[in-house]
Amino acid sequence: MLSILVLHGPNLNLLGKREPGVYGTTTLEDINRSLELEAQSLQVKVAFLQSNHEGELVDAIHAAIGQHQGILINPGAYTHTSVAIRDAIAAVALPTVEVHLSNVYRRESFRHHSYIAPVAVGQISGFGAESYRLGLRGLVKHLEIAKDAVKD
Ligand code: DQA
Repeated sequence: MLSILVLHGPNLNLLGKREPGVYGTTTLEDINRSLELEAQSLQVKVAFLQSNHEGELVDAIHAAIGQHQGILINPGAYTHTSVAIRDAIAAVALPTVEVHLSNVYRRESFRHHSYIAPVAVGQISGFGAESYRLGLRGLVKHLEIAKDAVKD
């Protein structure tokens, strides 16, 4: 069974309380629960980690080798700053989908650039908690197509 590592970056532990006008009232626990259900229907496994520390996210990406087949990540503010997270994703070469609750392109210009997007399969931004479910579906589809291509 495919296993997906779900990574939540800094400040996402405060979801539900944090700027609800921007990020909504859904908590991180709610998001993980809905991903768990989505994973069951897609017949994949999911493992979750939230961290406010860049290095811890880098370590988790390294540790995914041999354990998970893909990464779903909301890098939070590290999206716009972290060469280290981008390099870690490139280094492990695991298909990665980047998600954001808010539409970062409708917000401040410093959010318009992502260091992660060039090493991601794709990016989903602006659908609130639904961005994660859409991202998981997209990632699993991508992995299944890649697996079938190997078989052919
Ligand atoms: C975010 C967007 C980022 O710009 C911001 O720093 C976050 C959350 C989102 O999910 O919309 O922390 O990744």
